[in-house]
Amino acid sequence: MPYNVLLLLQEAEEHITFGRAALEFIGFLSFFGVYGALGFHFQVLRSLRGDNGSLRDPVQRADQRAAVIGITGALLMVVNLVIGASARAAQKNVSMMEALSAGGGRQVFQIACIVLLVISFLLASVRLRAGWIVAGLTGLAYALRAITSGRWFSLVNPLHEVAASLWLGTLMVLLFAGLSTAFSGGVKGEQRGRFVAEMVSRFSPLALSAAVLLGITGVTTAWRHLKHVNSLWTTPYGYALDVKLCVVAIVVALGAWNWRRVAPRLGDEESAVTIRRSATTELSFAAIVLVLTSVLVSLPSPGPTRRPGVLGVPRTGAPRDSSSTRHETRKPAT
Ligand code: HEM
Repeated sequence: MPYNVLLLLQEAEEHITFGRAALEFIGFLSFFGVYGALGFHFQVLRSLRGDNGSLRDPVQRADQRAAVIGITGALLMVVNLVIGASARAAQKNVSMMEALSAGGGRQVFQIACIVLLVISFLLASVRLRAGWIVAGLTGLAYALRAITSGRWFSLVNPLHEVAASLWLGTLMVLLFAGLSTAFSGGVKGEQRGRFVAEMVSRFSPLALSAAVLLGITGVTTAWRHLKHVNSLWTTPYGYALDVKLCVVAIVVALGAWNWRRVAPRLGDEESAVTIRRSATTELSFAAIVLVLTSVLVSLPSPGPTRRPGVLGVPRTGAPRDSSSTRHETRKPAT
């Protein structure tokens, strides 16, 4: 048995490279930045933006910080696109432009979306409301872009990724834009407690619905990629998924703790400090899930077909349904 495990991991090593996993991780971070900023603006700060009282100033500052995180996410999408295309150009010995245009209309649509996201978040960061609206509509179009393929399963991976970003990406923005503003100078004790409580109470319903979608799409994509249940304990892909699911369980438990135990007590400064600490812990474990997922999607899934990989790495297994830019570069469509 240990000998078999060794052989399986050796087989996996042939397929996985640090560069590919790092590229995946950048792609996930870009989604967290973009959809996290949108989730924060449209859900967490939604009704708070109408506040003309003491929260007006911190809300505006938090919104601006969220836009900056959105810009960073969109720029990471550009980085991902460029690295993926240059690797593909080198592999196929074609120019960068040829590599970029090889994906046809869908690829052009994705590039247009990314450019639009950068511009609209820039406008949002200088407090132009139209910027947020364009970013929201572009994010929606980008999430659903696989619909044009006519294959419903193509939507599963992008929706899984968007659901993860709407839950944990929004948590990230809540932490780095919302709570960081609440704890900055200029926000006083009682005002801070109220601001944090208002934000967290609006975050919870979004987190809950996104977590449900994440679970449904996660089980669907796992079922498609594993083919047989015993792949869970007989293949490197299955091992990576097992480890990922263990850490996912920790993230879910921490999320439930924050929601049921910490959030109801919010309102004063002390509880605001507590939620900041526990949200940071939840996000740290979410980062581990993303690292594990970067490894998972770089491994061949236990499907029957054998396909050439991108970035010069051959891969086996069922093609992955996804339509993010990096998948266009490394996951050939069926
Ligand atoms: C904290 C919870 C979770 C997070 C943050 C998360 C995140 C992600 C992300 C970002 C991807 C990449 C999607 C893509 O390549 O387009 C992914 C892939 C995947 N996720 Fe999750 N996920 C979570 C929970 C789950 C659960 C509960 C399951 C299964 C029950 C699951 C199964 C999978 C599988 C099988 C893939 C790989 C798909 C492939 O090989 O292309 N995930 N996950």
